Amino acid sequence: MAEDLHIPYGASKEEIYQALLPQLKALMEGEPDLIANMANIASALKEAFGFFWVGFYRMAGDQLVLGPFQGPPACTRIAYGRGVCGTAWKEKRTLIVPDVDRFPGHIACSSFSRSEIVVPVKRDGSVTAVLDIDSDRLDHFDEVDACYLEKIGELFC
Ligand code: SME
Repeated sequence: MAEDLHIPYGASKEEIYQALLPQLKALMEGEPDLIANMANIASALKEAFGFFWVGFYRMAGDQLVLGPFQGPPACTRIAYGRGVCGTAWKEKRTLIVPDVDRFPGHIACSSFSRSEIVVPVKRDGSVTAVLDIDSDRLDHFDEVDACYLEKIGELFC
């Protein structure tokens, strides 16, 4: 079975997310393995938008541990409440960081990263992972990204 993504050419960001959502759902349907599904989601988001880095960190005790991702190598462990990822986990909410240099405690895995969005992935109300996306452009992410990335996070419920 071909797993090619269909991404409308010249479409707006919102239209791309709308086209992507059912395709991501279909990719995950019938596949219970979390790592396999995270790997495909990271790949699809990188393919569709060309983000600098897209990946998951999974909760392991009091830390987040690097999971499936696309992009340059990254830090492997992030403590609860640390960095953008650990803060999104602690506060159980999506964080949009327009300029990473202005986020106190930001963890720089790459000097090319300029802005970031982190979306908690929840199961039964508890955070089990975070979806982290970095851009090499300042102020790349907005409420449209937050809205659709949260819907993508809900696919793991
Ligand atoms: N910047 C993140 C660390 C993960 S990397 O961006 C891939 C943070 O501050 O939590």
